[in-house]
This record gives sequence, C-alpha cells and structure tokens, in this order.
Amino acid sequence: FKMVSRAVGGLVSLVTGGASGLGRATVERLVRNGSRVVMFDLPSSDGEKVAKELGENNCVFCPGDVTSTEDVSAALDVAKSKFGKLDVTVNCAGIGIAVRTYNMHKKKLHPLDQFERVLDVNVCGTFNVIRLSAQMMNQNDISERQEKGVIINTASVAAYEGQIGQAAYSASKGAIVGMTLPIARDLSVCSIRVMTIAPGLFETPLLGSLPEKVKNELGKQAPFPQRLGHPDEYAQLVQTIIENQMLNGEVIRLDGAIRMQP
Ligand SMILES: NC(=O)c1ccc[n+]([C@@H]2O[C@H](COP(=O)([O-])OP(=O)(O)OC[C@H]3O[C@@H](n4cnc5c(N)ncnc54)[C@H](O)[C@@H]3O)[C@@H](O)[C@H]2O)c1
Repeated sequence: FKMVSRAVGGLVSLVTGGASGLGRATVERLVRNGSRVVMFDLPSSDGEKVAKELGENNCVFCPGDVTSTEDVSAALDVAKSKFGKLDVTVNCAGIGIAVRTYNMHKKKLHPLDQFERVLDVNVCGTFNVIRLSAQMMNQNDISERQEKGVIINTASVAAYEGQIGQAAYSASKGAIVGMTLPIARDLSVCSIRVMTIAPGLFETPLLGSLPEKVKNELGKQAPFPQRLGHPDEYAQLVQTIIENQMLNGEVIRLDGAIRMQP
C-alpha cells in the first residue's frame, strides 16, 4: 500500500454559498492551500468583492441560484474553461427560517410556501449541484489521484435535534443526511466520494449580528469547547475530507458535543 498524496494544491473546487460564512472560510482555505476555486453565490452576495480580494487567478465569482440548472451549469462551464476541470464541490448555500407549525397564541399556521422554499433551496439546490458536479467530475482522469472527485454537503445538528420553529430547516437538513449514503453509492462507480458535515453553532454572519453576550451564552451550550465554532474549523474538516480517501458516505458532526435543547 502506497499512500497517495491528496493535498488540495492543484485542485479545482466549486463552493456554493461561498461568499459568506462557512462557504467563504472554505474558499479562503482552499485558495490558501493552492486550490483554484469557483465561488457560487446569489448575485446579491459579496461574491464579487471577496473573489477580487483573493485574486482572479485563484478565485472566480459566478453569481446564481443553486436551484437553477442553468446557473449551476454556467458555473461549471467556468470551472472547465478557466481552470480546466472540477475536482471538489462543497455545498454551503443554505437558508433557514423560524416558524411554528401552528402558533396557537397567534392562531397562525406555518405558511406552506415558506416550508417549500426552504426544502427547495437546501434539498433540491444541494442535489442539483451534486448531480451536475458529478457529471463533470466523471470526465476526470482517475489515474492521477485514484479518484475522480469529492462532494461535500452541509447539513446541521438540526437534522437530529431540531428546535421549536425549525420544522422546515430540520426537514431539509435531515434530507441532506438521508441522501448522503445513497448518493455515495450511486457515484461509487464513478470513483466520486460524497460526505456531509453537520455543524453545531458557528460564528458566521448568520449569528454575527447578535450581541457578544448572546453569542457567549449560545457558545456555552456546547459541553466542550464552550464557544461558537470558527468558520475555518469547518473549512479544516472540508480539507481533511478531501485529503482522506477512506471518508465516504458518512455524516460528521462538528459541534463540540452540543445537543440542541427544544
Ligand atoms: N452558522 C452555523 O452555525 C450553521 C450551523 C449548522 C449549519 N449551517 C449551514 O451551513 C451553511 C452555511 O451557513 P452560514 O452560516 O455560512 O450562512 P451564511 O448565510 O453566512 O451563508 C450562506 C450563503 O448561501 C448563499 N445562498 C443562500 N441561498 C442561495 C441560493 N439559492 N443559491 C446560491 N446561494 C445561496 C447566501 O447568499 C450566503 O452567502 C448553510 O447551509 C447552513 O444551514 C450553519
């Protein structure tokens, strides 16, 4: 057995939701370590600015919506035409809402379209990016790295311990957990690995606007370490998954042993 070096240097990666939070930290770490990155995010995001900071030879911003086949295909075409291939896809684009199924105090039902929207972006969007990425990765030469690609998705601990108001978000993250193994099985014949990270509480713009005191309190919910995760700790796990070929078809909690309360 000879260990093959799978350092991220020289790889080409697509990161969705790459303009902010966990996705942005992933883009920055991959570029820092020699990967070239197509950053995919909504046109309204900071993508253009972040990509410019990283330099156009390292990072290209492609605006679009993960639920659109046209938009995702356009980003993959950029990976191919500008960087020549696609080795890694990291799905970080996602949205969340907090709405009760039925709010008896306000006598208000959870609007169905809001439920559908979260499922559409988080589940259908992630799947859309996976299927189109797999098609492009399958064109890679397997001999070089003994695999054609790696796909990494982002669930949440809410897939297991959804809190009050998280029916839609938890359902969507549970779906990402559930589809990880079957997709890994589907793509095993293409020599493509599929993994999912289920983060606990991370300090991203999602939480960043909260007062310091509230963030500290949130962080203390984790047994150890009693703090919010740093986005680069998420990115570090992405890198480890890319580098370690035995990781496949599994979901890894990255959460300081937190178990969310109702
Ligand atoms: N921050 C946390 O504590 C935490 C915990 C568990 C899971 N997560 C998950 O991690 C992922 C990233 O979260 P984050 O905290 O970095 O959030 P974030 O809001 O900072 O980043 C998400 C990015 O996704 C983009 N996006 C949203 N909808 C999109 C769409 N339809 N098409 C393309 N891009 C879209 C947004 O523009 C944004 O830049 C999400 O899936 C989130 O559910 C985050």
